[in-house]
Amino acid sequence: MRKKIVAGNWKMNTLPAEGVELAKQVAAGKHTVCDCVSFIVCPPFTHLSEVSKTLEGTGIAVGAQNCAAEAKGAYTGEVAASMIAALGCKYVILGHSERRQYYGETSGTLNRKMEQAYANNLVPIYCVGENLDEREAGKHFDVVKAQIEEVVYNLTPEQFGKLVIAYEPVWAIGTGKTATAEQAQEIHAYIRKVLAAKFGAAAEECPILYGGSCKPSNAAEIFAKEDVDGGLIGGAALKAEDFLAIGKGFA
Ligand code: G3H
Repeated sequence: MRKKIVAGNWKMNTLPAEGVELAKQVAAGKHTVCDCVSFIVCPPFTHLSEVSKTLEGTGIAVGAQNCAAEAKGAYTGEVAASMIAALGCKYVILGHSERRQYYGETSGTLNRKMEQAYANNLVPIYCVGENLDEREAGKHFDVVKAQIEEVVYNLTPEQFGKLVIAYEPVWAIGTGKTATAEQAQEIHAYIRKVLAAKFGAAAEECPILYGGSCKPSNAAEIFAKEDVDGGLIGGAALKAEDFLAIGKGFA
């Protein structure tokens, strides 16, 4: 039985006090959602410490949205995985399309970030997904395959056992356009097949989350699909009520 995960990527939103308030609201409503759902919130770096403290003992995990590719040293403005872990974080989002697109993250960089995450006991939430042109050209399968082969295939079986994947079609992020449940299932099943080609039966255990305009009104239909194990939520994670309602999407 795979883990069911609802992770909130707050992106560059909320001031620290607002983030703490949002975390408190999510914690206060968590009892309304099945215990079978693992919630994760990923605030900006500036709130990680306070949000971690706020959520201590609630069962809600905290993650960062990125980490440095190096362990430490003269890398102005970077935040090391060890620093993130020291704040009580358990997860780190890596390879989000916004990082690939706006900050030039490549598979080379991401391999190093993955190593840093694992070296510090952080579970990576590794994002893959195609843009609109690639989808329209029918290249979406090849794009996600390459993103997996170039990074995930370099993991040891032990590391792979602690990985979460998020499939996020770039054309559905923040646009209000969601992939249909069938489109999500089709590519999630494909991703699992690509993982199985390298890691065998362990691919069955890897949670694959859907991300891209996921909201209370469409979560249940998407999460009902066999290979969809939850969501990586952007906009709708900024309202506790919506975030929790998405968690209720699991039948
Ligand atoms: O990481 C989250 C995704 O980019 C989805 O964002 O739910 O605002 O479309 P969104």
